[in-house]
Amino acid sequence: MNKVDQLIEEIAKSNATTQEELEQFRLRYIGKKSVLGELFSELKNVPNDQKKEFGQKINHVKQLAQEKFKSLIDQLSDEGNEELNQQHIDLTLPSSGGESGSAHPLNVVRMKIIEIFERLGFNVSDGPEIEDDWHNFTALNFPENHPAREMQDTFFIERNPDILLRTHTSNVQARLMKSDKPPFRSIMPGRVFRNEAISARAHCVFHQVEGLYVDENVSFADLKQTLYHFAKELFSQDTKIRFRPSYFPFTEPSAEIDISCHICKGDGCQLCKYTGWVEIAGSGMVDPNVLENCGIDSEKYTGFAFGMGIERITQLKYRVNDLRLYTENDVRFLKQFKTAH
Ligand code: PHE
Repeated sequence: MNKVDQLIEEIAKSNATTQEELEQFRLRYIGKKSVLGELFSELKNVPNDQKKEFGQKINHVKQLAQEKFKSLIDQLSDEGNEELNQQHIDLTLPSSGGESGSAHPLNVVRMKIIEIFERLGFNVSDGPEIEDDWHNFTALNFPENHPAREMQDTFFIERNPDILLRTHTSNVQARLMKSDKPPFRSIMPGRVFRNEAISARAHCVFHQVEGLYVDENVSFADLKQTLYHFAKELFSQDTKIRFRPSYFPFTEPSAEIDISCHICKGDGCQLCKYTGWVEIAGSGMVDPNVLENCGIDSEKYTGFAFGMGIERITQLKYRVNDLRLYTENDVRFLKQFKTAH
């Protein structure tokens, strides 16, 4: 009984100014191995006539210990908040406002490109990223041993028959022409994949926008005018455009499209490598073989196609000089495009 009275006094006097002291209190008075626990196990040695009284007493101590423990916790957290308590917070003040998000630069540019072509009467078509050899290569007139089919460029998922990650959005061209009837006036944005080591200038995943226009009497002049209009809308009205002869298996003739450098206006700078021109797209008249492969009468219909990298356009428009920035999700980079659209 003496022990119990001593305990009551001890508990009442206890204090805890740190989490450690609080834990010590818990171990000593509350935990399984606490002094109270010991007292409970002593109960069996107490003579029968005193058992009841002793039992009640240690239950009382237990209760006291728990109440004290709670009040010590409260006291500690109040002390932690002391700094806060001293501040006068005006709860009626309007908030400073949260951070609002922003569209990813590649999305900003993709939406802008779509907007320009939609105004010219193009619609948007979509296609699969996992594709078969026919839609990605064969239909598009790639010769059997074309290097783009080789392992170093293409991610193959299965061989014979080949299933792969599309290497360009031109697969949607093939799908559209195979499943629908002309005329077609469509643009096809999407993700494409090539087996390249990731660096500032190359990535294994990037984005393209393909364009396809097939109808009767479509000519190279239509291609030129469409892309000229596009370049002026996207960059600025004083943008010039030039076509350089090139080669793609699926277009004949083919041309690479350059625009006048909008940074130096042709005087020469780092971006245009002092040439005054920067490349923005590949293009050409759809090869009659491609039309025929997709079941379209190449005597009746002609068409043009073009394809461009969205990363490339974004790089030119916003001077992003490292492709890896697009996928790193660094908010300091992303925040800069808040007002871009
Ligand atoms: N598919 C070509 C590429 O990935 C781009 C292109 C599309 C060129 C359409 C001409 C016509 O490089």
